[in-house]
Amino acid sequence: MGTVKLVDPHGGRLVDRTGAKTDGSKVKGSVTLTEWQQCDLEMIGCGAMSPLEGFMGEADYNSVCDNMTLKSGTLWSMPITCAVDDATASKIGVGDRVELKDDAGRLLGYLNVTEKYKQDKRRQAAKAFGTEDVAHPGVKVLMSSGDWCLAGPIDVVTLRHNPMFVAHRLTPAQTRADFQRRGWKTVVAFQTRNPIHRAHEYLTKCAQEVTDGLLIHPLMGATKDGDIPPEVRMKCYEVLIEKYYHHEHTMLAVMPAAMRYAGPREAILHAILRQNYGCSHFIVGRDHAGVGNYYGTYAAQELIDSLPPGALKITPLKFENTAWSKKAGGMVSEKTFPSIEGDRVVLSGTKVREMLQRGERPPVEFTRPEIADILIDSMKKGS
Ligand code: ADX
Repeated sequence: MGTVKLVDPHGGRLVDRTGAKTDGSKVKGSVTLTEWQQCDLEMIGCGAMSPLEGFMGEADYNSVCDNMTLKSGTLWSMPITCAVDDATASKIGVGDRVELKDDAGRLLGYLNVTEKYKQDKRRQAAKAFGTEDVAHPGVKVLMSSGDWCLAGPIDVVTLRHNPMFVAHRLTPAQTRADFQRRGWKTVVAFQTRNPIHRAHEYLTKCAQEVTDGLLIHPLMGATKDGDIPPEVRMKCYEVLIEKYYHHEHTMLAVMPAAMRYAGPREAILHAILRQNYGCSHFIVGRDHAGVGNYYGTYAAQELIDSLPPGALKITPLKFENTAWSKKAGGMVSEKTFPSIEGDRVVLSGTKVREMLQRGERPPVEFTRPEIADILIDSMKKGS
């Protein structure tokens, strides 16, 4: 079997900032990273955020906010910063090599500080999230971050202490090697932060019909309160894949990114990340990465459509809102079956949660019973 040529990484080269040795003697100062920043550190370090080699400097930050590109002109939709409070910032200067620690004080890596600047959180919220409303879970995290940003290349000592799902926590180099081993020329990635319901399953299988392989790639970094916990979701993915997917054409890996709930701009980030993981196609359905009513149903698809040709090398596969039709006896969208009053099996997130909490399975047309049972069980245990 010849070597399969996969899609180029974003910006042309896969970054690897791992493998740093502890070098206490040269170090000056330390920063405790927030959960978001720990996720970002892992994503940058393993190359998933290529071409970023560290936390963004001011010119990139402003350009990303205003133009959705890095200062080099390369597409980039969300600021990736190391924000710190005044007290921390006052102790750190340009030229310092500082330790980056987790909340338990364990060393994760180093930041070689090339810049220190003040961030404009409200402007960033308006530009990147499309709202300054602190009720938005991503804006809330941003607004609670410090006012100063430390920027510069990172060197990662350990991607994370005690990471969950080690066997599935594949770096872009590892997913790429796996795709090549399997001989997949085209791979479609599926982003999700939820258990896979019937609509999700339908999208992935439609996409699988036109590609060699499917990468089910749940986001497993920081999420908001109320989202289903990662270990429960993992059980759902494993059971579903085991019973209902073709194993030769399906792969499961986790993406350790933080969820920002930034809708359209985050959809672009999600696509860039999956390009780095070696995927040729990316599923974008209704209200991708959205939350509440902040974004239009197809706003993410529209923003992707507005990008200049070639800005993304990964191809978006866009899907309409899908649901089970009783009349058609299968999953449909507005494109494939006309809407008839009362025909679609549609349940709100709240309704589904209430049913599960009562120990009731949602209809099989909405969620597979095996998945419902895992969710009911986890709710009984209070997770
Ligand atoms: S997301 O925050 O990761 O986007 P979710 O896990 O619900 O949330 O969605 C994963 C992907 O499936 C996204 O591309 C989303 O647009 C798509 N999606 C979810 N439900 C539907 C649906 N009923 N119809 C079409 N696309 C959907």
